[in-house]
Formats: sequence, C-alpha cells, structure tokens
Amino acid sequence: VSMQKFLEKLPKAELHVHLEGTLEADLKISLAKRNNHPLKSSTVEDIRQGYVYNDLPSFLAFYYEGVELLQTEQDFHDLCYAYLAKVAQQNVLYTEMFFDPQLHIRRGLDFGTVIRGFNAAQEKAERDFGIRSSLIMCFIREMSAESADETFTQALPYLEQPDRSRIIGVGLDSDEKGNPPAKFAKIFARAKAMGLHLTMHCDLDQENTHEHIRQALQDLGSERLDHGLNVLERPELITMAREKGVTFTLCPSPNDVIRPGRSRQDIRDMLAAGLKITINSDDPGYMQSVYMTESLAKAQAAADLTPEELFQISRNAFEAAWISDAERETYL
Ligand code: HPA
Ligand code: ZN
Repeated sequence: VSMQKFLEKLPKAELHVHLEGTLEADLKISLAKRNNHPLKSSTVEDIRQGYVYNDLPSFLAFYYEGVELLQTEQDFHDLCYAYLAKVAQQNVLYTEMFFDPQLHIRRGLDFGTVIRGFNAAQEKAERDFGIRSSLIMCFIREMSAESADETFTQALPYLEQPDRSRIIGVGLDSDEKGNPPAKFAKIFARAKAMGLHLTMHCDLDQENTHEHIRQALQDLGSERLDHGLNVLERPELITMAREKGVTFTLCPSPNDVIRPGRSRQDIRDMLAAGLKITINSDDPGYMQSVYMTESLAKAQAAADLTPEELFQISRNAFEAAWISDAERETYL
C-alpha cells in the first residue's frame, strides 16, 4: 500500500489541537451571518488568503479575532462537531482538545455555555462516529495569574465532575514571551492536587524557552510538553525529559507556517535522543486545513519516517493519552 493509504488507515489519537483553532473559513461565514457579526472578508478564499503569519503573536491576532464569532452554545457545538466529524473520517479514535475559556469569559459569556456546547458535540460525535474525546482547559499566558485563578474558580463545578464535563487536564497557551510557567505555579499546583493532568506549551523562537521547559518539567510537574523542540539544545533537558517519561506533542503545520526556517531535522533528532514524540495538528482551521493525516504526512516527508516509526509515534499518543488503562487497551 502507498504511504498515503497507510497514513489514512493508521489508528490515531490527537493530543494537541485548539478547538478555537479548528474554526474553518466556511464556519466563520455562517457564524457571522447567524450572529450578525461583521467580517472583513466575505468569501472562503479571501479569508484563507488573509492568513499571513510572521510569528506567534501575529497568528494569535487572527485567532483572537475568530474567537469573537463564537457566541452561543450552538456555536460552540458546531465548532467542536465539525472538528470531530472531520477527524473521525481520518481514523482518529480519540482526541484531547484544548480550549481557552478566558477568551470567552472576558467577553461576558458563561463558562457553562462553552462547556455545554462542546459536551453536546462530543456526545453526538461519539454516537455518530464512535470517536471519543476529552477537554483540556488552557490558561492564556499573557493574561494575569489572577485571571487564571478566577477562571479556575468559575470552572470548579465542572472540574469536580470530570465524568460529565470531560475536562481532564489544564494547559498553558498563547504568548510565551515574558510569560513563564512559574507565573502560574499556584494554579497548576491547585489543579494537580485535584487530580487534573498538566501540560504546557513551550514553543520555538522565544527567549528563555529553556528555562520555561525546566520550570514546566521540574517545578510544575508538567506531564507533557506541547511543542518543546528546544530541549534539543540542552542535553540536561533531554535527560530530564527522558527520565520523567515526558511526551512531546509536535505540530509540523505551525512549524511550517509560523516558524519557517526551523530545521526539518528536529523530528529525527528527537527520535535519536530517545524522546517520546507525537504528531498533531494544533490549529488546522487557520493553517491550510492540515488535520491529523496531513500532519503525519508532513512529518513523514520532512523526516523520512518509516511505517514502523509512524506506527510507534501513533502508539505513543495512545500511551500518553489521559485515559484509563481499560480504555487504552481497546485502542492498542
Ligand atoms: N501556540 C500557542 N498558543 C496557541 C496556539 C499555538 O499554536 N494556538 C492557540 N493558542
Ligand atoms: Zn498549540
């Protein structure tokens, strides 16, 4: 069979996708109509052509603008259902999806509106396609620690009922520059004490990112690193990640789109260093609709991955997934 067929058929788990980043241009247009919200571009082509990024902040500006279109429970449902329906066709069996409650709460929306919309979509997608899914609530790192605390408090009724809300972990995303994991040490400790899982973005091309990785792993006890490629530049961080059994959620698409020039050698180097990596999509709605199969194809082409390596990478995701061992066995 061809590599493409192999990749399509491969059973997949996704561990790094931002639900708000799955907003496709066509859904933007329908949400704008439905909510009477102005859009600068009125066609799918114009919207997609407008997506030009130089770095993480310039990408986040588009992402934050798109978030404004999400207003009702139905909107959050439609966003999540569209993503799940899409990746279910790519043989994604399980996915852990990030969302950014602060971007909604600060616009006056209720936490429950967001969660009820997502949960309804998750239940429907599971009935329709068999795809299982969980949620990871992220803190916006350029917002204050107090804002993160307040959001966490609003989320408490949902966090205390993970079986119903499906929120199984907390993450850290958005603008890394000047916003170290340590800024959120208290809230991550609180989440951990409640039994929530922890993961954090440690991106490329940022000052102090090595110290951020160290804090995430050593001081805050992050179980995974989102991106985290810069470990390669520090042997002591490689050793730390290996000893702690950290899984890295790599995303080839944003590396191409907003971090050009980054060596294609990274995936190879991480494998050679004995690190556990997974391949994920990140923000497919904003990055040329590169979902899971396409992300794996990019990684395969970049690093010349063999079917055996791709199978192991896919297995890594099921092994690192925050699910019961009983559920894990059904996938492996
Ligand atoms: N990086 C950091 N923060 C984000 C991203 C990303 O790609 N997408 C949404 N929030
Ligand atoms: Zn991300």
